[in-house]
Amino acid sequence: MADLEAELVNKVTWSIPTALALVGSHAGDEWNAMTTSWITQVAMEPVLVGIGVDKKAVTHRLINEGRCFSINLWSAEDTRTFVKFSKPAVKEGMTLNGRAIRAGVTGSPIFEEAVAWMDLQLWKEVDCGTHTFFIGEIVDAGLPDPDAVVASVRDTRMKYGGVRRGGH
Ligand SMILES: Cc1cc2nc3c(=O)[nH]c(=O)nc-3n(C[C@H](O)[C@H](O)[C@H](O)COP(=O)(O)O)c2cc1C
Repeated sequence: MADLEAELVNKVTWSIPTALALVGSHAGDEWNAMTTSWITQVAMEPVLVGIGVDKKAVTHRLINEGRCFSINLWSAEDTRTFVKFSKPAVKEGMTLNGRAIRAGVTGSPIFEEAVAWMDLQLWKEVDCGTHTFFIGEIVDAGLPDPDAVVASVRDTRMKYGGVRRGGH
């Protein structure tokens, strides 16, 4: 890695086809959702799904405290939403950045507009340096729009991953 050019590492890791979704979190009075691309199923029994979350993110603290999270898959026709959720979300009533939510079984926010969603209880966390890989067990799920084309990073001009730059 030391001899590899950051530029090459960026281009190669950005080439991994990944999803793009809103990860919801909730602890105490705080609710949040963040644009997330590092999402993958990791086991079938139990059904486990993992997400990579920056240790500096509000979401990281809320998942640590609340011990749960949600994954809200979104329509590929509405990728502008992901721009808004690239910084801590504003909650007004039961909305985050103006998008309607409700509390799932775990207490995590579930978006009414999600085309598919999972509600997960934190199962294990793996320290990965800059990020924590949070693994959740699915305790509830819904598929409000089975015909929707689900958004992925490739539907946008946004990128995430590669080597650490300034900020997070
Ligand atoms: C396309 C895209 C994908 C992203 N994927 C992730 C991700 O998988 N994990 C992560 O920690 N941050 C990811 N981010 C960055 C977060 O959305 C951003 O840092 C956010 O402000 C952190 O959320 P929070 O502080 O509100 O919890 C991504 C950003 C973009 C634009």
